[in-house]
Amino acid sequence: MGLFISFEGCEGCGKSTQAKLLAAELEQQGYGTTLTHEPGGTPLGDELRRCLKKVRDSVVTPEAELLLFAAARSQLTLNIILPALEKDRVVICDRYSDSTVAYQGYGRGLPLASIDAVNRIATRGLRPDLIVLLDMDPSRALQRKGWPRDRFEHEDMAFHERIRNGYLELARADPGRWMILDASDSPSATTQVIRERVSPLLSKSTLTRQVSA
Ligand code: TYD
Repeated sequence: MGLFISFEGCEGCGKSTQAKLLAAELEQQGYGTTLTHEPGGTPLGDELRRCLKKVRDSVVTPEAELLLFAAARSQLTLNIILPALEKDRVVICDRYSDSTVAYQGYGRGLPLASIDAVNRIATRGLRPDLIVLLDMDPSRALQRKGWPRDRFEHEDMAFHERIRNGYLELARADPGRWMILDASDSPSATTQVIRERVSPLLSKSTLTRQVSA
């Protein structure tokens, strides 16, 4: 099995940038690396992403949201992530199942037990080996991100605060799997800390590596 790393955090926290930087670095070191994101990363997932982010006149129920994210996740897990891990690649995913716990659970208020059950179906029980949480005050992060805003970014600050606190609760409960970083630090300092945490995980002997002599 390969190595699975996910990036989590609020809107505008810089996780996509850090995920890309890590993927580029590992590629350069010769590790077979697959960089992907949620929702999306497959043709069906990309369609669902457009549906989910679109600002609408009518309310999307939290349950519909949960199931649409889960559908996209199932497609990505079975078609992209698991095959890559079976080929001993490093998979880096910009958001994974913990986004659903944070957004639909803590943010929308759906019961965490239901979310766990749906996530288990969508992931077939797959969990990242490492989850990088980029933590930041959501109002600053949204300001940094700017306009236009999608359906989630239009939510009030209390929603974003609940998500932030939810993430922190998850991460503090499982420090062996999560790392919490201050996303208001300089991007290069953040990259360095992530590199240090990932480095020992790469010594897994099964990882695919093409090293030039
Ligand atoms: P995206 O543009 O990918 O945002 P970001 O760059 O912050 O990742 O939009 C995805 C949105 O969907 C984002 O607001 C978070 C939300 N989301 C959920 O609510 N639940 C989920 O399970 C996932 C994967 C994302």
